[in-house]
Amino acid sequence: MADKIRVMISEEEVDAKIEEIGKKISEDYAGKPVHLICILKGSVFFCCELAKRITVPVSLDFMSVTSYGDGTKSSGIVKIAKDLDESLEGKEVIVIEDIIDSGRTLSYLLDVLKQRKPNSLKLCTLLDKPDRRVKEVQVDYVGFEIPDEFVVGYGLDYAQKYRNLPYIGVVEGLEED
Ligand code: IMP
Ligand code: MG
Repeated sequence: MADKIRVMISEEEVDAKIEEIGKKISEDYAGKPVHLICILKGSVFFCCELAKRITVPVSLDFMSVTSYGDGTKSSGIVKIAKDLDESLEGKEVIVIEDIIDSGRTLSYLLDVLKQRKPNSLKLCTLLDKPDRRVKEVQVDYVGFEIPDEFVVGYGLDYAQKYRNLPYIGVVEGLEED
């Protein structure tokens, strides 16, 4: 049976917010190129849309980490499944995430990336669920703070489905935990 999805943040709202973050990043990094690290697979949609709205020179690299199984619960184990292709040394790096939930993935990842000597390292996330935080992480750019609900769309999946939805939605009737 098809799942029922309730819209939490509309496509128009997401687009407007990405425009706003793009503008902010372009101002903050005026005159400097930025190196965006897209965390696969969830951040792809957000990262591409954001990159299109940044007016300073942009380079991109991709990394894949796994911290979740196919369900909605964190395993607490972070593994680098695909590492970056390029060095970070001397670069103005911004890590682009889809969502920060427990913070485990990012807190681990930022430690790893810091050791690679970027000139600066910032974190940008489309969504933030502050109520769920287990590990503290400093987030520099946030799209939306959302309540503790499992969301899909704009890159976010439920068992690999719904990444392509152009809005942020909640799958109705999901049993969490
Ligand atoms: P954290 O390590 O708990 O912060 O988890 C971050 C990762 O968990 C994200 O990059 C997502 O892949 C996944 N995740 C957390 N919450 C959700 C959600 O509501 N929907 C879909 N994926 C989620
Ligand atoms: Mg995921």
